[in-house]
Amino acid sequence: MPVENPRILTKNYDTPNSWTLAAYEASGGYQALRKAIAMGPAAIREEVKAANLRGRGGAGFAAGVKWSFLKTRTDMPSYIAVNADEGEPGTFKDRTLMEKDPHRCVEGFIIAAYALDVHTVYCYVRGELVLAIKRLEQAVREARAKGYLGNKVLDQDFKLDIVVHSGAGAYICGEETSLLNSLEGLRGEPRLKPPFPAVVGAFGAPTIVNNLETLATVPSIVEMGGDAFSKLSRLHHMKDGGVRLYGVSGHVNRPGVYEAPVGITLRELIDDLGGGVRTGHTIKAVIPGGSSTPVLRESDTVHAPDEKHPLHAWHGKSHLDVPMGVDTMRGLGTMLGTCCAIVMDDTTSMVRAAENLMVFYAHESCGQCTPCREGCAWMAKLCHKFADGTATQVDLDTLADVANNIIGNTICALGDGAAMPMLGILKLFRNEFEAAIGKPAPHLGVRAA
Ligand SMILES: Cc1cc2nc3c(=O)[nH]c(=O)nc-3n(C[C@H](O)[C@H](O)[C@H](O)COP(=O)(O)O)c2cc1C
Repeated sequence: MPVENPRILTKNYDTPNSWTLAAYEASGGYQALRKAIAMGPAAIREEVKAANLRGRGGAGFAAGVKWSFLKTRTDMPSYIAVNADEGEPGTFKDRTLMEKDPHRCVEGFIIAAYALDVHTVYCYVRGELVLAIKRLEQAVREARAKGYLGNKVLDQDFKLDIVVHSGAGAYICGEETSLLNSLEGLRGEPRLKPPFPAVVGAFGAPTIVNNLETLATVPSIVEMGGDAFSKLSRLHHMKDGGVRLYGVSGHVNRPGVYEAPVGITLRELIDDLGGGVRTGHTIKAVIPGGSSTPVLRESDTVHAPDEKHPLHAWHGKSHLDVPMGVDTMRGLGTMLGTCCAIVMDDTTSMVRAAENLMVFYAHESCGQCTPCREGCAWMAKLCHKFADGTATQVDLDTLADVANNIIGNTICALGDGAAMPMLGILKLFRNEFEAAIGKPAPHLGVRAA
């Protein structure tokens, strides 16, 4: 079946000057906001629930359900913190929304704020995304001048402002509670949960933290209705609704960001959207959704003979032929994550790929939790040894041991996000680590023996 090409989130991407208010309004922009105001906050929240919109930031939590956790108080305001930190390696989708359609983002923030009775939205953007920040700031200025923001949004008794806040390039600040600390001017370290941000968030006030794409999707949900939006997904029946942005990078012919229904397969993403792997090469491994998600192999098949198993419909199929959804990817022992796949062909040394990833995590660990601070550094050090041929058999066991001692022992998921892919690579490509004992691993770009 050819991949559907819905063009909902990306419908303005090719319009000249798509980032301006004039272009956005010409394409029907801000009509969803008018409709939302006519519907009222409770009805908007119901539509978002009906949309089965799973958070696009990585964890895949249902946005409508998260919104219902907001514990508003009479003695303090509530906030929305938009997570546009986009630091996950291999992930570059939110950036396109901010650069090409910032008003869609702003309209989504306004509708969400109206639905949740929030009067300040903080949008925390990765500092390196200079153009995204510029366009978002311009969009906020234009929206303010046009009366979409300010003391009386569209002449309603509703006031709202949006603050665009630039991060400074720390991966950890994408973790929602580190983001809040950073926003407050504190060191970007995760907070213990509970309390969750919906109860105690920014500046001690109840805060909903949502990924940028999650909120940029809201105008379309209001426009077409939650149920209709949800049904665009191939996994609507699994409460994983709508369309989303997919990224594909690595050894494919057409790396980039593509919009497609939830539930296309990795093979469709790689072949139909990404133009296939480089000619003359085969797929060795795929990281499905940003570097924190364990790798998959084409040769592995789904084992779900029991009819009650959630993946039974794909029993016997290659992992690359399973629809990409929050729960289906979990069923394969990995995660959908940010839905941005990294494709590695047969020229990839998995030892060097692991080394590359572990150096990143060792550098980005904030150092607050000992297992992550020490463990990520040790994983990087051991991977170096395998890469340069100085590792021993004991190092192989130590590497797995260190990874296992990180999992579940840290405040946030950065440590797990390093250890799980490490263990995944070790499980599927142990032979490459064994071959690298006493002999340097092949360099990237050299076909492994
Ligand atoms: C180390 C780390 C980095 C993260 N980076 C991001 C990020 O850059 N953008 C993002 O939206 N979520 C990121 N997350 C997930 C957030 O903590 C949070 O789950 C998300 O912003 C919630 O939004 P959603 O429910 O709309 O997906 C990260 C999590 C961890 C543990």
